[in-house]
Amino acid sequence: MRVFSGVQPTGNIHIGNYLGALRQFVDLQEGNECIYCIVDMHAITTPKDPAQLRSDTLDVAALYLAIGLDPARSIVFAQSDVPGHAELAWTLMCCAYTGELSRMTQFKEKSRGHESAPAGLFTYPILMAADILLYDSELVPVGSDQKQHIELCRDIAIRVNNRLGDVFVVPEGRFLKEGARIMSLDDPAAKMSKSAENPLSRISLLDDEAKIRKSIMRATTDSEGSVRFDPENKPGISNLLNIYSAFSCLPVPEIEKKYEGAGYGAFKSELASVAAGALAPIKERYTEIRHSARLAAALREGAERARAISGRTMARVKESFGLGLGAGGG
Ligand code: TYM
Repeated sequence: MRVFSGVQPTGNIHIGNYLGALRQFVDLQEGNECIYCIVDMHAITTPKDPAQLRSDTLDVAALYLAIGLDPARSIVFAQSDVPGHAELAWTLMCCAYTGELSRMTQFKEKSRGHESAPAGLFTYPILMAADILLYDSELVPVGSDQKQHIELCRDIAIRVNNRLGDVFVVPEGRFLKEGARIMSLDDPAAKMSKSAENPLSRISLLDDEAKIRKSIMRATTDSEGSVRFDPENKPGISNLLNIYSAFSCLPVPEIEKKYEGAGYGAFKSELASVAAGALAPIKERYTEIRHSARLAAALREGAERARAISGRTMARVKESFGLGLGAGGG
């Protein structure tokens, strides 16, 4: 299958990103054709310091390799190095409706309280649809917060196909059971996020063991004292059980059994060890890779391979829409 996904270079990549999406990227390398992008053009929908953005883009690229993406097997590149993304986004913008864009919950959340929002924040889901459709992607591994965006992408693809013939492959989202929505450690009613003010609300992939332990030991729970999965009444403990299960590959009921009669302290302390143990090798490989020639070469080569595929799609799209006079594109 052709697999595509992307991550925004916004710093603080956390275990929600990892357990919801990045971990799938690695698993899917086996037997599929995978394309993984660092979506720097999405990142500028809110103002970014240019030097910081470039550095964050390289950070995510290095993390991609550190978690186990192999540039010999997967295409890894920065979105803005492939002009087809912007080109297709414009074409799709002419096929999407302002009504459906205004219903996007992420847009509503991000623009809430502001008198006016950047137009790019509004059209963000269309650029995301372009990312996916540009590579004839069949499968899109993401966390559940992207469900609505994937649905919109499918709607646009189907709409264009109904009007112009089989222009696009209609993709499917791929969501994991335990990792699809990791919640904030200090407020289990909110999603774990890169931008939350309290650093203890998340575990970043590059945190050291002391910080991981502190975040987990301080995580909000309840006063009942039993390690039991019950998202409605025990959202904090249920979130920690999900994290434990995702890192250890043990099913939740088995973890519940293991900690029957034990207090939250013992459970949290062992979870901290499990998480720190899983993240330590990633951090080690990241440090080796971040400033290496191997990373630069992987990104250069990835962009070249991505341009070749996207060029073919754009030629087909332009032909279908009646755009251009045959001078090429992509
Ligand atoms: P971004 O950069 O916000 O997040 C990257 C990935 O992490 C997932 N994720 C989570 N999963 C579980 N629990 C959480 N708390 C959590 N927070 C984030 C996201 O679902 C995502 O899979 N719009 C996308 C980037 C994008 C994209 C694409 C993705 C742009 N083009 C094309 C797929 C295909 C985003 O902002 O992800």
